[in-house]
Amino acid sequence: MRAVEVSAFGGTDKLELVDVESPVAGPGQVLIDVEACGVNYADIMMRRGLYGGGPAPRFIPGLEVAGTVARAGDGVTKFVPGQRVMALVSHGGYAEQVVASSAGVMPRPEGMSAQSAAAFPVNYFTADFALHFAGNVKPGQTVLIHAAAGGVGTAAVQLAKIAGARVIATASSSEKLERVRALGADICIDYTKEDFLAVVRDATDGEGVELVLESVGGDVFDKSLAALRSLGRLVVFGIASADVRRPDPRELLFRNLWVIGLHLGMLMLQPDVVEQASERLFGLLATGRIVPQIGHVLGLEEAVRAHTLLGERSNYGKVILEP
Ligand SMILES: NC(=O)c1ccc[n+]([C@@H]2O[C@H](COP(=O)([O-])OP(=O)(O)OC[C@H]3O[C@@H](n4cnc5c(N)ncnc54)[C@H](OP(=O)(O)O)[C@@H]3O)[C@@H](O)[C@H]2O)c1
Repeated sequence: MRAVEVSAFGGTDKLELVDVESPVAGPGQVLIDVEACGVNYADIMMRRGLYGGGPAPRFIPGLEVAGTVARAGDGVTKFVPGQRVMALVSHGGYAEQVVASSAGVMPRPEGMSAQSAAAFPVNYFTADFALHFAGNVKPGQTVLIHAAAGGVGTAAVQLAKIAGARVIATASSSEKLERVRALGADICIDYTKEDFLAVVRDATDGEGVELVLESVGGDVFDKSLAALRSLGRLVVFGIASADVRRPDPRELLFRNLWVIGLHLGMLMLQPDVVEQASERLFGLLATGRIVPQIGHVLGLEEAVRAHTLLGERSNYGKVILEP
């Protein structure tokens, strides 16, 4: 089968289109014919060797796919060949076929395209967990969402508005923010032109926000803590800048602030947490209230372009690869 491999940690020149043996579904696993694969910022971090616990080269990147079941391994009763599915995998999605643990496979709702399904699990489960499980968002609260035009960001803006929150969104260009405003964001900040902390303080009468969704790190992390009101929560689920900061415990305790880490893969192992999020998300999908945002659809052979788009922060929403 055709696949894209990371040959060594490094730049986009380490992505190689190759012919490899198809994987085999073992007990409890499902072999999927991939129709579309979502490209995530984590893939960029994995390629660069910056993703803790990520695979070592050579490996096929790709954390989420949509396609049809080619074969169900021994002991799998929930899925049958020909069934339309989407799946989360640890890696291996940039390929014509991938093997997934059946626990990570979900039936694809009727009428949902492969592209939309490949843009769904990582973005929407991460955003839902960040807002509800970790962030405990309530109607009327104000949520600051960074990288709001990205994959998780566009999902978070939609879900925060549905939860009844006021959304303050940041991104690095007015073009991105126009689209984020169309998703329902109330206040949009181009942080290359304005200081987001000053805008947040202005918009909240100097009080700050109840919740921040933070995935950038560096100064954005520090200023996001400063942007919280007392009892505010900062959910940290990414470090796109690779600049790791530590909160000052004195600031946390004197202002009653909560800093909460979130890892999608770990939370997907908590059945009760997943069940609550699934109920919300699949209900919203069925009624068309959430629409995965897809910026670019590329062929597998264009994996370098896909990584360049994400790495250079030029994507809107999700980038999809089609084998
Ligand atoms: N914890 C988890 O389980 C989990 C799950 C999914 C995603 N994530 C994380 O969530 C974040 C979003 O993921 P995604 O796949 O949806 O990517 P994305 O948001 O589409 O792309 C990352 C965005 O981050 C913003 N950014 C700000 N400063 C940056 C910097 N110094 N370097 C690179 N990007 C910067 C850029 O938007 P602007 O230029 O508009 O600011 C960029 O487009 C990533 O950090 C990812 O690792 C974590």
